[in-house]
Amino acid sequence: GLRPAYAALPKLKKKDVYKVGFAQTESNNPWRLAQTASMKAEAEKRGWQLVYTDAAGSAAKQVADVRSMIAQKVDVILLSPREEKPLIPAVMEAKKAGIPMFLIDRGVDATLAKGGVDYVAFIGSDFVKEGHQAAEALTKAVDGKALIIELQGTIGSSPANDRKSGFADFIKAHPEMKIIASQSGDFARDKGRQVFETLYQAHPEATALYSHNDEMTMGAIAAMEAAGKVPGKDLIIASIDGTKDATQAIQDGKVLVVVECNPKFGPAAFDAIVKYAAGEAIAPRLVNTDRVFTKENVAAYLPEAY
Ligand code: AHR
Repeated sequence: GLRPAYAALPKLKKKDVYKVGFAQTESNNPWRLAQTASMKAEAEKRGWQLVYTDAAGSAAKQVADVRSMIAQKVDVILLSPREEKPLIPAVMEAKKAGIPMFLIDRGVDATLAKGGVDYVAFIGSDFVKEGHQAAEALTKAVDGKALIIELQGTIGSSPANDRKSGFADFIKAHPEMKIIASQSGDFARDKGRQVFETLYQAHPEATALYSHNDEMTMGAIAAMEAAGKVPGKDLIIASIDGTKDATQAIQDGKVLVVVECNPKFGPAAFDAIVKYAAGEAIAPRLVNTDRVFTKENVAAYLPEAY
């Protein structure tokens, strides 16, 4: 039998072919493109129908995209919520319409909607742990002493909130690890370049960069080089994701560490749908196992980088 919390969730009939909605948040970086490609490949492999939408960086559009999936009567919705609070109506409306929903890669505000109650489950990385791991590698490399510029992800998104708190939590025990400036670059390369340039001009004493994703890191590297600085020497860099560019930058000595955040969700998401339809209990939080890339192990990873 199903656990009591499951009673509140919409049921899913067993079928050979499902119509699955995937509500993507934006497509302006290789991570997002790899995530979408993984969903499309998995749908194709199983012969299921995929209804794909791209919110183009707008939480309001993403809510509208989910509403349109509800109107089209998809069987199940996979949502990568751009921000934690604005997507709550989408979660609640899917539940009310009787359509099971899985949150993929990003979460929503846990005080407003719960896994196993309002949506089936969250499937993704542990962003707090990613922040910890980035901080740990950086702290070790600089012997516990750095003046850090932080580039945050999209304001109000779960990865930005959790990567910030995970990093801050780790460096608390290291008084000479100091964040001297912190601002959002919206997870985007060019915004990261612009924001880093401004922060670095104001804080030329900086010795390290903690960036919440690889795209902003690549933007910041461009800004460092334009300023005549040497990434990896003048500034030690910790990043998150595992894109081709950033892991190649480890190989080139420009980046110290990239904590992996795996975008390839297709197999795990579609397996979870099948299990849910079969009445199997699904944990409300399914956490990916991620790796940590440094110059010691990055060469083996490069062929699979995206
Ligand atoms: O939610 C995961 C984050 O979103 C990835 O780190 C980033 O690259 C993406 O846009």
